[in-house]
Amino acid sequence: MPTIEDIMVAPPEHDATVNPLDYFDAPAPVELEIGCGKGGFLLERAKQYPHRRFLGIEWANKYYKYAADRMARWGMTNVRLMRTDARNFVVHHLADNSLAALHVYHPDPWPKKRHHKRRLFQEDFVAAVVRVLQPNARLAVQTDHAEYFAWIQGLLVLRAELVQVDFEHPDFAPPGQTPRTNFEVKYVRAGRTIYRVAYLKLESTEFQPTSSPSFLQSAWPPDAWAPSSAVLP
Ligand SMILES: C[S@@+](CC[C@H](N)C(=O)[O-])C[C@H]1O[C@@H](n2cnc3c(N)ncnc32)[C@H](O)[C@@H]1O
Repeated sequence: MPTIEDIMVAPPEHDATVNPLDYFDAPAPVELEIGCGKGGFLLERAKQYPHRRFLGIEWANKYYKYAADRMARWGMTNVRLMRTDARNFVVHHLADNSLAALHVYHPDPWPKKRHHKRRLFQEDFVAAVVRVLQPNARLAVQTDHAEYFAWIQGLLVLRAELVQVDFEHPDFAPPGQTPRTNFEVKYVRAGRTIYRVAYLKLESTEFQPTSSPSFLQSAWPPDAWAPSSAVLP
């Protein structure tokens, strides 16, 4: 049984480059969740995919400890949690091509214009995301904030390395079994609209992958960046 200390990992020092696989004892695809909060999504996803490895990053100490305790009580050997600024971690520390998936669910929207610079999604963050994703790796984003969603989409569509795909897809999660996040559950109950989008990183920066991964079958060619799914409660 892992202890809470086994689950918690220290943030990298200074200018260290980190391959998240180093936090685990066996090679496997690694998924990262940024702002994992109380860990509801990560726990369910890690249970669904025991042969994958999961790193959750959370800034708020209270949630970080809560989630770590939860993972330990569930005996999760394929989960690690880190308390740090995820933006700094991804931009400055994460190794190239190190992630099989990146999950960002309900990032803080910072709705006031003067606070927009605090938003996680900025040009340099998106460039770093493209760098750290492996070819065919998936980026999934979800928010209840329409304006932030448009902001995020505006940044992502500029990247030729990314192609939009279905959010719900059997290659990603068994049909109807994509785990829900804690905030999603709360917001759906309150009747709010949830906006979701997923992208894959292409093998090449040209818009013509030589072999189309199965994820792309339904989404290829990209539908001129059609508006993404708005999931009604
Ligand atoms: C609105 S909550 C969403 C939590 C969870 N993803 C969910 O959907 O239930 C946003 C979370 O991101 C965390 N967070 C905000 N900025 C962060 C950062 N720079 N690095 C890591 N975590 C961050 C917050 O502490 C909070 O737990």
